Amino acid sequence: MKPHDPADGLAGRTAPGTAAGQSTGDDDARRKDDEEVELELNVLKEAFFPTLFYFCDIPDAAALNEKLLPAILEERERDPEGVVRSNVKRVGSWHSQASLQRKPHFRDLVMRLDAIVSHMFVDLNYHPESIPFCDHLWAITNPRFGYNRYHNHPEALWSGVYYVQTPKECGHIRFRDPREHANFKEIGIDEDKGRPRELWQEVHYEPKPGRVIFFPGWLGHEVDPNLSEEEGVAGERVIVSFNYSQRSTTQNGVTNTNDAWGSY
Ligand SMILES: [Fe+2]
Repeated sequence: MKPHDPADGLAGRTAPGTAAGQSTGDDDARRKDDEEVELELNVLKEAFFPTLFYFCDIPDAAALNEKLLPAILEERERDPEGVVRSNVKRVGSWHSQASLQRKPHFRDLVMRLDAIVSHMFVDLNYHPESIPFCDHLWAITNPRFGYNRYHNHPEALWSGVYYVQTPKECGHIRFRDPREHANFKEIGIDEDKGRPRELWQEVHYEPKPGRVIFFPGWLGHEVDPNLSEEEGVAGERVIVSFNYSQRSTTQNGVTNTNDAWGSY
């Protein structure tokens, strides 16, 4: 496929003498140039290489979470040490083993996640003989002041989070613009109009029980400290996180290469 040249869309449309560098500095001449610009320029805007997110509020989340919350707490009781990844143990943040997708209590959630990723595969024209596969699934509980350090999910094609319990002010998940050089130069923004979406440097999603957010595994993210003032388990931020890959439904198609363990 021929690479798209943004100049194609503008060819032949630039009015003579309208580039800023060619201005004479004379007011009348500049005004004349401006008139020509208004008449003849057709400036197009395009965006390439986007960072995609998919999100979904699962409709039967209340029933789902009624089963998931006790299953996660039971898992924590059985394995209080858990593992240390992005969770900060010193402030009580607990991270389960990353194989909960194999446990019966998490099956209903995995089925719903599979359905969402299947939709994404179709939306993105992934190979029709490939299916989404949940490689890892784990739970994280953050009590008051618990948080997750900045990290990504190496080897994951798609990663995501599902919210089980989100008391008020339990902490946002934050994503930063991965193009670090895009923020190299500060930009003055018209405060009345606000910063356009294309220039956002960070985004966060409101945590809400039943909400699923999928993002590329390579994308860095972190979780704010839980500042909930609710007492006990009700004040904990409880989530399930996961990694998905693409697997083939045939012998010769796409094969999974996502068996490595990451830093999540
Ligand atoms: Fe993560």
